[in-house]
Amino acid sequence: MPRIFFAIEPAEDALRSLAAHAALLARQGGGRPMPADKIHLTLAFLGEVEDSRIPEAEDAAAAAVGAAFTLVLDRLGAFRRAGVAWAGASMPDPALLRLQGTLAAHLVARGFELEPRPFAPHVTLVRKVDRAPREAAFEAVSWRVTDFALVRSNLATGRYETLRRWALGE
Ligand code: 2AM
Repeated sequence: MPRIFFAIEPAEDALRSLAAHAALLARQGGGRPMPADKIHLTLAFLGEVEDSRIPEAEDAAAAAVGAAFTLVLDRLGAFRRAGVAWAGASMPDPALLRLQGTLAAHLVARGFELEPRPFAPHVTLVRKVDRAPREAAFEAVSWRVTDFALVRSNLATGRYETLRRWALGE
């Protein structure tokens, strides 16, 4: 069964910078840089979901649509146990937290199981790092977030497929 998740996809310029940071971090600390077409910020990870339940997830997304906002990624860091290096937001816009919180609540209300961990907005740049970068500020990468997407991850091919997008209000 494919895994699905909700995500924010970086705008073109931001994606270019994030991919460059991923390559640099992987050169410095080892690991596998995320390919540009897979770089994203996860809002909610639903795991393996039957196709028949996707409309319920879509209903939750429609109910969670809120205001557009600017995402500023200004920190590099690592989840050491997971072996990932990331770019994160030290001061996430309240509209991002609202979107994630509302989406999670609507998903849970429809019976989806989400990770109980608190939301730590981040974009994974490198997986399987050998030497995790120390947390540090870096030249911020930012973009205007005007939509979010439901993405299917195909385990067999390792590819991501965007199933649907929802526009956020300006
Ligand atoms: P990560 O980037 O921090 O690893 C698709 O797998 C996306 O969902 C990834 O970006 C991943 O976050 C996120 N995710 C959250 N919980 C996950 C889990 N239990 N297993 C796999 N991915 C998860």
